[in-house]
Amino acid sequence: MDPSPLEPALAKLRTALNDAQHVVVLTGSGVSAESKIPTFRDAMEGLWKDFDPQTLATPEAFEADPGRVTRWYDWRRLKCAEAQPNPGHLALAEIQTQTLARGASFTLLTQNVDGLHQRAGSTDVVELHGSIMAWRGVDSGEPAELPEGPFESFPPTSASGEIIRPSVVWFGEMLPEEALRRSFDALERCDLFMTIGTSSVVHPAAGFVHNARANDAFIAEVNPDDTPISPLVNTTIRAKSGEALPLLLRA
Ligand code: OAD
Repeated sequence: MDPSPLEPALAKLRTALNDAQHVVVLTGSGVSAESKIPTFRDAMEGLWKDFDPQTLATPEAFEADPGRVTRWYDWRRLKCAEAQPNPGHLALAEIQTQTLARGASFTLLTQNVDGLHQRAGSTDVVELHGSIMAWRGVDSGEPAELPEGPFESFPPTSASGEIIRPSVVWFGEMLPEEALRRSFDALERCDLFMTIGTSSVVHPAAGFVHNARANDAFIAEVNPDDTPISPLVNTTIRAKSGEALPLLLRA
């Protein structure tokens, strides 16, 4: 088989991956695009095509129209539940297994709320923006039971009649403290940082590359497009993650 045109960049990253003692990977919605979950900024289709996700993913939008916001999240919840992990998710899980097996550390930080990394076999995933597969009471924070299909009415309520919301982080909300602590702990040690399938515009995750640089970590980006952090990385793999990550595993 002819070598992939990505091979020179992949070879650099493979070497860094074999040498690193503390690997940190940050993923965004691009990693799930090949599982047919639209990326955050491309999310609107069908009934939702006239809406801007940034105007639905806020506490203000929920307060103004909880029915509309929860209907949108329920539509996305079901899309995520139907989706299957793609070769990019599976390769990352295998990279974690191999990295841990040679005694190095591996931390996967994700901005995704779809649970596909875990379903692909990744463990100890740090969910920076929460999970769309978990919903909770708006006031009590009590976890709610979810139907397999769509909720019957919107906004949905728990068994005790309380309105529930997805356990995702909305614009203007704090990220989960434990997820942030684990991210900064890992970044403080990291000697290899891989940023995959994220537009690198939403903070704090978009700033993690600076923490990695402060450590002199080797930095790699996997993304078919340029991002604001592209000029800061040591190697760029301009490809879809479902194509590039399995090639990384090839000896
Ligand atoms: P975006 O939709 O901003 O960016 C997706 C990125 O994935 C883009 O840079 C695409 O070029 C890239 N991409 C597309 N297809 C790809 C593929 N097959 N393989 C690899 N990369 C691909 O999504 P995020 O960066 O995840 O937060 O957005 C970050 C956060 O912004 C989201 O978690 C969400 C949003 O605000 C909250 O809701 C709090």
